[in-house]
Amino acid sequence: MNRRDFLLTGAAAGTLAVADTWTPAFARPRSKLRLGMIGTGLRGQSLMGSLLGRGDVEMVALCDIEPIMLARAVAAVEKAGQATPRTFGADGDVHAYRRLLELDNLDGVIIATPWEWHAPMAIDAMQAKVPVGCEVVAGITLQDHWDVLRTQQETGTPYMLLENVCYRRDVMAALNMARQGVFGELVHLQGGYQHDLRGVKFNSGHPDEPYGSGVEFGDKGWSEARWRTRHSIERNGDLYPSHGIGPCAHLANVNRGNRFTRINSFASKARGLHDYLVDKAGPDHPNAKLKFAHGDVVTTQIACANGETILLQLDVSLPRPYSLDFRVQGTEGLWMDVNNGVHIEGKSPPHKWDDAQEWFAKYDHPLWKKHAETAAGAGHGGMDWFVLNGFVEALKIGDPMPIDIYDAVTWSAITPLSEQSIAGGFETLDFPDFTEGKWKARKPIFALDSGY
Ligand SMILES: NC(=O)c1ccc[n+]([C@@H]2O[C@H](COP(=O)([O-])OP(=O)(O)OC[C@H]3O[C@@H](n4cnc5c(N)ncnc54)[C@H](O)[C@@H]3O)[C@@H](O)[C@H]2O)c1
Repeated sequence: MNRRDFLLTGAAAGTLAVADTWTPAFARPRSKLRLGMIGTGLRGQSLMGSLLGRGDVEMVALCDIEPIMLARAVAAVEKAGQATPRTFGADGDVHAYRRLLELDNLDGVIIATPWEWHAPMAIDAMQAKVPVGCEVVAGITLQDHWDVLRTQQETGTPYMLLENVCYRRDVMAALNMARQGVFGELVHLQGGYQHDLRGVKFNSGHPDEPYGSGVEFGDKGWSEARWRTRHSIERNGDLYPSHGIGPCAHLANVNRGNRFTRINSFASKARGLHDYLVDKAGPDHPNAKLKFAHGDVVTTQIACANGETILLQLDVSLPRPYSLDFRVQGTEGLWMDVNNGVHIEGKSPPHKWDDAQEWFAKYDHPLWKKHAETAAGAGHGGMDWFVLNGFVEALKIGDPMPIDIYDAVTWSAITPLSEQSIAGGFETLDFPDFTEGKWKARKPIFALDSGY
C-alpha cells in the first residue's frame, strides 16, 4: 500500500486524522506542473534553478516589483529552454501578484517574498484555489497564523511551508536513528539559526553586491537589506525559527501524538549590528545612530506534552561561523551537530564521542540514498532540491503536502509568541494548539516517509 492509499484508507476508516487538511479536488494526477512564482529575488531565483532543472515543471508566470530581479528570472526561464513566462509587477504595483493568481493555467505558486507578504499572498492564493509553496515564515502576527490556517481549512487548497532544513542529510539520518530507537526515548532537542547575517542586512545597494559590500539598508539597500533589516530595528524575538524547529518537531512528532505546550524566550542586549556599522563606516555615519530592538542572541525554550524540552537559539548579528547547532538527546545517547559527535551508551567508548559521520553513513535516510545524485549541486547541499521535490511530487499525485498547514503555523508562530514573551519580561506562555485537539489522533507520518 502506498502512502496515499494508506492515508485514504486510514482516514476513511476513521482511524487517522492525517488527511484532514487535504482536499481530493486537487488530487488530479498530473505528469507536469505549471507553476508561478511571486518574489523572484535571490531566493526565488535559486529555487527556480532547482525547478527548471526538473523535467516536470514549467515556470509560466513570474511576479516581482523589482524589474532587475524580474528580468533575471525571465532570462533564467528562457535559458532553460522554456517559453517566456507571463510577468507581473514591473510597474511596481505591490498587488500585481493578484493578477498572476487570476491566470487559469496555474497548478501552483511559490512565494519567496519578504516575510510580511507571506500571509496575505498565501491567503489570496488559497482563496484563488492556487496551491501554495511558501518560503519560511508563515506570517508575522499570531492572528496571521490563525488566518492562514483558517483559509487553508475553508478553501482546502494545498499549502506547504518550504522548510528545507528538514531535508538536510544529517538531520534526516538523525531522524532515521531516532525512529529506529538508537537514541532511546527522546528527552531533549536543540536547534536554531546561528548565522552571521551582518553582511546580508547591510550592503551597498548595488544589485551585484548583495553581501558584505556596505552599510546601507531599506530603500538604499539591495535584496534582504531592503526589508529584513527593518525587522531587527523594530522587533525582538526569534524571528526565524523554522530551520531549527522543523527538524526538532519532526523528531518529537509534534502535531502527531505530541504538541508544544509552553514557550518562553530570553533576549540578550543588542550590540552586533551597531558595532558592525561603526567598524565599517565610522561613528558619524547616520546608520551608526540606529537603535536595534533585536537582541543579538535570542534563546527560546519549549515544553512538549510528552515531556521533551526543546531549546532554540537565534544568533545572527555577531561574528561567528554558521551552525544550526542541532542536538538530539535520548535515554541511550545523543548527537551534537556542533562537534560532529554521536555518543551511544554501550556502543561508543565510555564518555567519548564517535565521529557522527560514521553513524550517519550507516543510517543514511532512504530518501537520500535514492536521490543523492539528483540533489547534488542544488542549493544548500541538496536540501533545496528535496523540499521542492516534496512539493512538486505531492501536487502531481494529489498527496497531502509533506510539510502541512499545521506544521507551518505551529513552527512559525514561535516568532510572535517569543516576541510576546520577551515583551512581557521573558514570560512563559501557553502554546496555542492549532490542531484544536487533533494532535492526539494524528499519526507520525511526514514528508520524510513519502517515498519521494
Ligand atoms: N529557506 C531558505 O533557506 C531561505 C534562504 C533565503 C531566503 N529565504 C526566504 O525567502 C524569502 C525571500 O528572500 P530573498 O533572500 O530572496 O529576498 P530578496 O529581497 O532577494 O527577494 C525578495 C523579492 O521579493 C520582491 N517583492 C517584495 N514585495 C513584493 C510584492 N509585493 N510583490 C512581488 N514581489 C515583491 C522583491 O522585489 C525581491 O525581489 C524570505 O522569506 C526569506 O526568509 C529562505
